[in-house]
Parts: sequence; C-alpha cells; structure tokens
Amino acid sequence: MTTVAFDIPLHQSEYLSEQQKRQYKDQIKALLKKEDAVLVAHYYTDDVIQALAEETGGCVSDSLEMARFGTKVDAKTIVVAGVKFMGETAKILSPEKRVLMPTLEATCSLDLGCPIDKFSDFCDEHPDRTVVVYANTSAAVKARSDWVVTSSMALEVAEYLMDKGKKILWAPDKYLGGYIQRETGADMLLWNGACIVHEEFKAEGLRSLKNVHPDAAVLVHPESPESVIQLADVVGSTTKLIKAAQTLPNETFIVATDRAIFYKMRQAASGKTFIEAPTAGEGASCRSCAHCPWMGMNVLENLLSSLKSSNLEKGLNEILVDEAISKAALKPLERMINFTLSG
Ligand code: 13P
Ligand code: SF4
Repeated sequence: MTTVAFDIPLHQSEYLSEQQKRQYKDQIKALLKKEDAVLVAHYYTDDVIQALAEETGGCVSDSLEMARFGTKVDAKTIVVAGVKFMGETAKILSPEKRVLMPTLEATCSLDLGCPIDKFSDFCDEHPDRTVVVYANTSAAVKARSDWVVTSSMALEVAEYLMDKGKKILWAPDKYLGGYIQRETGADMLLWNGACIVHEEFKAEGLRSLKNVHPDAAVLVHPESPESVIQLADVVGSTTKLIKAAQTLPNETFIVATDRAIFYKMRQAASGKTFIEAPTAGEGASCRSCAHCPWMGMNVLENLLSSLKSSNLEKGLNEILVDEAISKAALKPLERMINFTLSG
C-alpha cells in the first residue's frame, strides 16, 4: 500500500465585519427561500455557518444525521456545508434532489488516502472478508463496500458482524479501526489512513494539561491515536461528545476533536469551559491545529455564490455522482441508515 500525498488548503480567514456578515447572511437567506433550499452543516464548520443553518430551519449535526436529514427534508435543494463525501452521500441517498456545496474542493484526508484502484486491489486480495468502510470515503469506495458506517455506529456494526462470524476488512482510518478492534475483539484487517486533524493530538501534552485541570473530563473522537484515546473519559462521535459535555457533572472539558464543535458544546452546556486538547509537543507539525482545513473552506462568500442563478445554471457547485457508482453505493448506505434506525 502506498501513501498518497496531497495539498492541505490554507485556513480561510475571518476578515468580514459584523455588518458585512449580516449582509451576506440576509442575501443567503433570501436565496435559500427562492431556491427551495435547505442548509445542512457539520459541527466542524465555522460558527457563522452553523448559526445560519439553525436560523434557516436547516440542520447542524454529525455525518450520520446529515445523511438522514437529507432524506427526510422536503426541500428541492440541499446545500451541504461540510466536505465532499457528505455531499456525495446526500446525492446518492436523494438522487432526485439537487445537492450543492459552497465549494467542491473541500475534501478529507481519509477520502484522499483511499483511492479506489488501490482499495479495490486490497479487497480483491481478501475476498473472505466483509468490507466495512467509514463514511469518510469516495462514492466509488462506498460502491465497493458491503457496509458504510460512521463513528456513531461503527462499534455496533462490528459487533453485529462478529456475531455472524464475519471477518472484517476496514478502511480507511487506522485509528478508528484500531479502536473498534480493541473494543470489540473483531478480526479486522486495517487500511493505513488517518485524519490529519485528529492524528495531531498528542498524549504527552494532554497528560500535562490534565495535571493543570485535574477536574476536567477528557472527550476524544476515535480518529485520534491510541495513546490519546487511552487518556479519555469519553470516546465517541461528535454527537456523543456534545452529549457528554451536557450530561457529565464536570465544569471543564478537554476536547480532542475539531474545535469548531465548541459552538454546539457551548449551546448544549452553557457556562461550562471547553479547552482544546494539545497538538503541540514532540513531533508536532500542526498542519491543521485542531481545525479541519477543508471544513474551514465553507464560508459565507462561497455559500452565497453557490446559490446565485448564474452559477446554478452552470451547475458550478452541484454534486453529481456517476449513475452506476451511485446505484452500487446506495446499498451499503441504506444499510447504514436502516441499521441505525433499527439498532
Ligand atoms: P462524525 O461522524 O462524528 O460527524 O465525524 C465526521 C468526521 O469527519 C470526523 O472527523
Ligand atoms: Fe476528514 Fe479529518 Fe476533516 Fe473529518 S476532520 S473531514 S476526518 S480531514
């Protein structure tokens, strides 16, 4: 397996004045209405985007709920503020709807690190294994899989398959895969991918920070390295971490996931204190510094532009998925949705 190199986009800077933000927001609200469109945003997008989704009757959630919301909502157009795999998932699950994204350039290191040709060879080499892929993959990789899961249901699906005596081929996140393996004891063969944001969290720095805040609870997304997960009080999906912030009695939390999640954590648990888990320390390069550079590409300017008629006519921001791939990927994606609904 070879490592895939990719460029990381620069963070978008917040340089708009409050008045300019209001103007942008008003124009976007009007166009959402005009186009019968709904805004669906991930917890890792910037505060202003999450707030706009809330103010316009859209949804702010984790990747699984984003997918489910898209299938339930009546609007003709879904605007996905997140990364490419989320837009593709929305389109595959609702092919009759128009799916737009503020930028089609927003991707994910897990998706980039799992190209379909190499992944397909890997699957061919292990025909005895059930192929389970993380939602953070291309439509083509999903089409080659038996199951698609998100972090909110990965453990349960692994247990379900284990009970059926299945061996698993897992891709692409080696840390999430390792976590599932350790928790369930499932027989899993892992692809060598990683999230550039979560991979940066450092156990050594986290230990020191815990010493400074001995009463803080540590919340960790399972895309983080094992040494960081070992220090966690709660490990789980973005939604699980927000719930933990709300329900645990602690007043302070050290959070090892994208810091944009603080917007929702502060809403869910107002008055509590949230501290970023450290990315500094030995070997630190801080390429993302606890904020996904691709999620950060969703800004008011390109959101507005994606909804302008001249761009809509040209299909500039529209997500399209090859028909054969879409058909094949629908099966494991529906399994994901149905498993969650019944499980
Ligand atoms: P969630 O499924 O928890 O929303 O995570 C998606 C993701 O990209 C995490 O980095
Ligand atoms: Fe991908 Fe990591 Fe960004 Fe999530 S935070 S979209 S896993 S690069």
